[in-house]
Amino acid sequence: MNASDKKRNAAKAAIEFIEPGVTLGVGTGSTVNFLIELLPEIRDKIDRVVSSSIASTTILEAHGFEVSTLNEVGDYDLYIDGADESNKRLQLIKGGGGALTREKVLAAAARRFICIVEDTKLVGMLGRFPLPIEVLPMAQELVSRRMLKMRGQPIWREGFVTDNGNHILDVHDLQISNPLEMEARINRIPGVVTVGIFAHRPADILLLGTDDGGVREMRS
Ligand code: 5RP
Repeated sequence: MNASDKKRNAAKAAIEFIEPGVTLGVGTGSTVNFLIELLPEIRDKIDRVVSSSIASTTILEAHGFEVSTLNEVGDYDLYIDGADESNKRLQLIKGGGGALTREKVLAAAARRFICIVEDTKLVGMLGRFPLPIEVLPMAQELVSRRMLKMRGQPIWREGFVTDNGNHILDVHDLQISNPLEMEARINRIPGVVTVGIFAHRPADILLLGTDDGGVREMRS
């Protein structure tokens, strides 16, 4: 099984969790794109859709879905998104695609959060994947210096602007042994919009596409 097949299988498994009348939050990335391709088959079950990025909105609209804003729907049923890493407590690193802020907002408003990944993304300790941080452009150097003090190696994702008009720092070499504490600590740095640690709102269910073509389910 290659990575794409495993992502597709995880996305297929997530479809089984979608119940009639659902308001569905849709994440961002290649795994979620497999999910979006499958949504037209269950269109009748979906009442409303909210999206975590301009990219996902564009694909959803191309598949004939009208996308609502979160302000219109309020707290809602189910958010499905990928991740860059998960530990066994279903605390995540997200933001490889740069959509972390809207993803965190949609995850916070969802009653249930299902994360779909391929199995290589399950790690013992978060931090092998460089940690994305969305920052105000004018605070980029300040946040970089603070991350150096925390023994991370911040790299500016040059040329990338988020849907919110901000920059991304990818911080290498962090060992995130306490994701709850690290999430809160980085969020307190002035100029940080969002850190890509999802520990205060972890996933509820993790669906991992595995090498044998199956899908492993983990719950927090
Ligand atoms: C985007 C994300 C994605 O969920 C994450 O990068 C995983 O992407 P993919 O499904 O392409 O592997 O957090 O901001």
